[in-house]
Amino acid sequence: MISANELRRKYIDFFKTKGHAEISGKSLIPENDPTVLFTTAGMHPLVPYLLGEPHPAGARLVDYQKCVRTGDIDEVGDPAHLTCFEMLGNWSLGDYFKKESIAYSYEFLTSPAWLALDPKKLSVTVFAGDENAPRDEESAAYWKSVGMPEERIAYLPASDNWWAAGPTGPCGPDTEIFYWVGPGMPPAGSNKGTDSKNWMEIWNNVFMQFNRVDERTLAKLPKQNVDTGMGLERTVTVLQGKTSVYQTEIFGPVIAAIGEAAGYVYGSDSEKDRSVRIVADHIRSATFIIGDPKGVLPSNVGAGYVLRRLIRRAVRHGRKLGIEGTFLPKPAAVVIESFMAAYPELEENRQKILEALAAEEAKFLETLEKGEREYEKMLPNLLKNPQKVMSGRLAFKLYDTYGFPIELTEELAAESGMKVNRAEYDEAFKKHQELSRAGAEQLFKGGLADTGEAATRYHTATHLLQEALTRILGPHVAQKGSNITAERLRFDFVHGAPMSKEELEKVEALVNEQIGRDLPVVMTMMRLEDAKASGARALFGEKYEETVKVYAIGDFSKEVCGGPHVERTGILGKFRIQKEQSSSAGVRRIYAVLE
Ligand code: ALA
Repeated sequence: MISANELRRKYIDFFKTKGHAEISGKSLIPENDPTVLFTTAGMHPLVPYLLGEPHPAGARLVDYQKCVRTGDIDEVGDPAHLTCFEMLGNWSLGDYFKKESIAYSYEFLTSPAWLALDPKKLSVTVFAGDENAPRDEESAAYWKSVGMPEERIAYLPASDNWWAAGPTGPCGPDTEIFYWVGPGMPPAGSNKGTDSKNWMEIWNNVFMQFNRVDERTLAKLPKQNVDTGMGLERTVTVLQGKTSVYQTEIFGPVIAAIGEAAGYVYGSDSEKDRSVRIVADHIRSATFIIGDPKGVLPSNVGAGYVLRRLIRRAVRHGRKLGIEGTFLPKPAAVVIESFMAAYPELEENRQKILEALAAEEAKFLETLEKGEREYEKMLPNLLKNPQKVMSGRLAFKLYDTYGFPIELTEELAAESGMKVNRAEYDEAFKKHQELSRAGAEQLFKGGLADTGEAATRYHTATHLLQEALTRILGPHVAQKGSNITAERLRFDFVHGAPMSKEELEKVEALVNEQIGRDLPVVMTMMRLEDAKASGARALFGEKYEETVKVYAIGDFSKEVCGGPHVERTGILGKFRIQKEQSSSAGVRRIYAVLE
């Protein structure tokens, strides 16, 4: 039986035999990408290369990448949904295209030397065609040529077979591969088009030929690329003949640890099983998010807020299982054990993970107690209500002000023979959600990994800024974060005190001087050691490939960086610092614009 660890290895080894270079997966927190909170697909860190930048490791790449998608966090708990998952990916950057991509996938899946899956249990989908790209007869023909029967090929529209990571960025038609998870063998004529329930997607091969520039513009990419993503957890599930990822060794140990804390045996009660799955999934995600090299801690904004929600939901379902007091660190330690071979950063950050979880859990338990106390105070008044109904507005206030979950309010109300006006609560909640969704959409504006011209200028300006800060403030200035949009740059760096007006002016002047010199920006590929030895700046804690790109801006700055950058500094315009403020303890934040 193939384990998750073996599948990762086999996948990498297989593609190495096909001339792919193994690259390391990247952080869960995207650098230089203001549009998403987490890395949501294996291709995410590769966007600049899919758009045409040369990759230092070549044109055929393979890796495994941890991803977080929390769009449907509230649906997690069924047997298939996860908020944190691993994607196995192989890429062709303008090298091979549909034919080889399909042949490699089929060989890896069915060859007795590799996964040895039963070809009779496989089916695929291809793009049915629309105004952007034709019906993909080409992929269908390649599928048939490797042995896929016609009846197992479904032609589906863009909603199924057009893949894009976001509203802008590289995209294209795809072909998806499914495995039969229904009873027995799939019936004649069955495919994803006729049966959407019993075919489980395990792999997606995207033929990236386009760049969605904006709503109206779909530009052709300079090269035809292949971006594939195989779901590690799902594939392990089918390889092991299981029907749920929670039955595999990926989740077995953490489920056992949760069961131990709750005195509950998984599999005895369907409602409780659901809670166990939610706790297991959320603890795993929280462990990966905190344990990332660029890990975040629970907070009220952005990625920190998502993390907080994951932890709180885990605590709440823990209580449903009858767990009292704090319990998260133990199952989290089990997650660390299970995944540290593939993700050594979990082991390196063990202490931080366990402490952050314990602190957040204790804080939330306090919140729950406070909410309960508030509720007690309301109770005498509530009991005067002859209908025994608590208003939804009040329930929402408990949620909004104290973070007190509606389910608990309902439970408490029931203890006093009362009901909550759920319709009214839902309405207040929906309004609140719409507001936060508007915020999330705002966040998405600008597209994925904005490599537009404006953002590229800011990218180069960021290099100039960092060098200028180091020269004016001293060598302790290290980058702590960077966030670029088409409108401005934001740069976080280590510095113990607010900058004086004079320092700010000096930094601005030094950057503008380099722009005035119209310095050339030159990229050189070199081995990471050589790059560091040459004095190129590299990000502390970042995982780099063996060969990296170094961008030198004249004689002024030299940095290891994926690019892209402008060719000469002269086109940057005038650099102006808008704001300098504290970001966190010992870290300052600068907002700057090019005018
Ligand atoms: N980028 C593609 C996906 O995430 C492979 O499905």
